[in-house]
Amino acid sequence: MKDVLKVWPLLLNKKEIKDVKETYCFNFTDSKEESCALEINNGICQFIDGKPKEFTIKVTTETKEWIAYLSKQKEFDEGKIIIEGDDKKLEKFQRYFSGQPEGHQTTNDSYALTENEKEILEGRWTRPKKVLILNGSPRKDKGATAIIYSQFKQGLDESNCEVDVVHVADLENKTCKGCFTCWGKTKTCVHKDDTNELILKFHTYDLLILATPVYADGLPGALKNVFDRTITILDPEFLNKDDHCRHPTRYPRMPHLVLLSTIGFTEMDNFHPMVEHVQKICKNMHLTYVGEVLHPTAWMLSIPSIRPLYKNTLEAIKQAGIEIIQNGKIPKEIQKQIETPIFTRGQILAIYNSAVEF
Ligand SMILES: Cc1cc2nc3c(=O)[nH]c(=O)nc-3n(C[C@H](O)[C@H](O)[C@H](O)COP(=O)(O)O)c2cc1C
Repeated sequence: MKDVLKVWPLLLNKKEIKDVKETYCFNFTDSKEESCALEINNGICQFIDGKPKEFTIKVTTETKEWIAYLSKQKEFDEGKIIIEGDDKKLEKFQRYFSGQPEGHQTTNDSYALTENEKEILEGRWTRPKKVLILNGSPRKDKGATAIIYSQFKQGLDESNCEVDVVHVADLENKTCKGCFTCWGKTKTCVHKDDTNELILKFHTYDLLILATPVYADGLPGALKNVFDRTITILDPEFLNKDDHCRHPTRYPRMPHLVLLSTIGFTEMDNFHPMVEHVQKICKNMHLTYVGEVLHPTAWMLSIPSIRPLYKNTLEAIKQAGIEIIQNGKIPKEIQKQIETPIFTRGQILAIYNSAVEF
């Protein structure tokens, strides 16, 4: 335990120890008895190996009791933790060594809270102009996801947005090596490929449309790899944000994000793991998740005789694009229209098993 307490000076909360002058002496009564002390004075804390000359409070206990108390696994037990001096000072110990609970401090060239995040927090919306549609379907512009994003894009085009479409399947997209070179001095990824170039351009867009099928209850592998690689635009330091440890980003502004997704099955819960995952990615990447267009049994759209039945759904998807640009959200009734299957599960099974050819 003595060695563990050597790192305690790092946990000093500078705000809490202004004008504090205390020496906490510890006497650990394990098989081998050990003493040490933490001396707080003049805004700094020093570890003293052995008994200090003087102390303001002395704690005599076994290591396991002290760890259980510190980590709040156990209430303070007078019989097991013996205090000499003012025991109120023990309560203050946790405050003095609470680290940086308020967080949000960042270095000069990184951002804890980006402009897009501030906008959403304050209920403001700036009409996006530059939009990137990132399509994760390996079927590129031939699949069901393409039908959905093309409809949505019509809404963006009508709103005079400048729209780029990137198919992940077209990228030279190397996998992250986990080397952390991008967090070192060069701040650049070791891979000089299309994915690196794309990620470095993310911040130049106002809105990112993530269009993707659900694969194995989540993101298709190549698209997941793109998000693995985004670590390169974060800074390594930890900050406390939304009561979570997060990294600051290297850009003052990141795009808002809308998820467009398709599944083969009928039930909306098939989207849940993907939605939760994408929302978490957004929080970590400072992308602001502003809406979703989720369409089940999307293969139906590819059956020519059935597609006309989806006229209202396709119109609703285009309208969702218009609404996002104008108001930064998709009205509930539009979302419901997009998500509600036209057929019952029994009918869907019958159509699929007799009509779909591979
Ligand atoms: C490898 C693979 C995994 C899939 N996993 C799921 C799944 O977990 N749940 C689901 O509902 N559909 C799943 N599907 C179906 C696709 O999500 C669905 O067909 C989607 O609309 C395909 O989009 P695309 O035509 O744009 O590629 C999977 C398809 C493939 C090829």
